[in-house]
Amino acid sequence: LVSDSAPPDLAPRVFAEALRDLGLEKAAGPPPYVLEIGFGRGELLLEMAARNARTYLGVEISRKRVEKMERRIVRAGLPNVKVVHAPAEYLLERALPEGAIAECWIHCPDPWPKKRHHRRRLLKTPLLVLLARVLAPSARLGISTDHLGYAEWIHTALEPVLALENLDTPLPWSFEPPPRPTTAFERDWITDGRRIAYFSYRRRRGVPADALASGAAPAATAETAAEPPQP
Ligand SMILES: C[S@@+](CC[C@H](N)C(=O)[O-])C[C@H]1O[C@@H](n2cnc3c(N)ncnc32)[C@H](O)[C@@H]1O
Repeated sequence: LVSDSAPPDLAPRVFAEALRDLGLEKAAGPPPYVLEIGFGRGELLLEMAARNARTYLGVEISRKRVEKMERRIVRAGLPNVKVVHAPAEYLLERALPEGAIAECWIHCPDPWPKKRHHRRRLLKTPLLVLLARVLAPSARLGISTDHLGYAEWIHTALEPVLALENLDTPLPWSFEPPPRPTTAFERDWITDGRRIAYFSYRRRRGVPADALASGAAPAATAETAAEPPQP
């Protein structure tokens, strides 16, 4: 493992349990913390970490992608990017403290376009409630998708979460690219001539993470699939 041979301050991988047991500062570095869920090839994390003195945490379910990213971080010599190999649900529910994350990105999550696979989609109201819990007051949440069916689904999942405020209101999302580098998937879809839907949200101050608009299913009873990472 690259992380075994790297000097300790450059060790790019952290374990969810270390974040939970030692705290973010000891396990990953100084605040503020930016979290990317499903970083894929990780270029955005690397680019942003090279430009900003913040600690960038990436969580990825794919072991291969985590291992490749570890090598990229070491090659780039960036001590402020750390990767966690885990399902995002597990990291959010079991490892991160309340209000710890200053900014979060979820770009081009797998759209699972077939109806029978929709239940596998990452962005569901219960996951967004878990996310709202770990976001700091006024923290930004950026989500993008190339799949318009998934954009509708994401909007429906976000709508009842009162702790998350849509900054594009009255529009559900924007097609205007935000001022940041594109991710690998965004670039591929834009090259293919597809439009990307960008969601721009902010953590509302003073609203409990699990406060839901009336009529929505209570988050506590919904399935969150928070399981430990697979070997
Ligand atoms: C379509 S790729 C997008 C990658 C990158 N964000 C981009 O825009 O280029 C979706 C990524 O999410 C990861 N992923 C899927 N489910 C996840 C989960 N539950 N927790 C963490 N990562 C997940 C996948 O392994 C994959 O790398």
